Amino acid sequence: MAVMGIDIGGSGIKGVPVDIETGEFAGERYRLPTPEKAKPDDVAKTVAKVLKHFEWAGLAGAGFPAAIRNGTALTAANIHQTWIGTNVEKLFGEATGCPFYVLNDADAAGIAEMRFGVGRERQKGVVIMITIGTGLGTALFVDGKLVPNTELGHIEIRGKDGEKRASDGARQKKNMSWEEWGGKFNEYLSRMEALFWPDLFILGGGISKNADQFMPYLKLRTEVVTARLLNQAGIIGAALYADMCSRA
Ligand code: BGC
Repeated sequence: MAVMGIDIGGSGIKGVPVDIETGEFAGERYRLPTPEKAKPDDVAKTVAKVLKHFEWAGLAGAGFPAAIRNGTALTAANIHQTWIGTNVEKLFGEATGCPFYVLNDADAAGIAEMRFGVGRERQKGVVIMITIGTGLGTALFVDGKLVPNTELGHIEIRGKDGEKRASDGARQKKNMSWEEWGGKFNEYLSRMEALFWPDLFILGGGISKNADQFMPYLKLRTEVVTARLLNQAGIIGAALYADMCSRA
């Protein structure tokens, strides 16, 4: 069965129907630029255009860059402040006419990676997936079960929000070398390690394809691997989540 998966990002809104049995895309991924300022109504219109592109009228899920409880956004770290308190499921559902389920973007990526990626064989113990992008997103799994909405990218390091020092956004903004960024990211991961002692860290997000540039600077006692699904994970996880919710 195919379910529409959508990934809402700072620069692009991407979607494609996903075969939820195999995790494969059932078509070509379609991407539209995120509207300027990314206010709720404009984003909803763009999501509707993505569904229209596929002439989609069925079940849909979206990963969204905020803590989401019962479909409502609770935070707005890198998005417009008017999202706080917005029922994103209702907004997207009304804009598209489709049953819509929405979850945090890193949770979506984590769900996909645990089902179809490197986490597949790691269903025991504590696994933390970190998506490295404009911000730092986190997904925490205990014996394969998600603890939703961990906002661990905001752990304070040297008096600053962790993601302001160690995200890919910070690396690009400050034009850091891999060595410099690797050191900062290592400090972030070391703090996470000292607080959670997980069995495994999975690193996702676009930057994970540059892993050989920064892995040498990571000095941890915890195993660290890169995600297998790269930038597909968010879309696949959103579709899986919608499927799970629709059956609950
Ligand atoms: C947000 C998280 C999100 C992450 C990645 C952070 O700034 O607080 O909710 O998962 O960025 O997009």
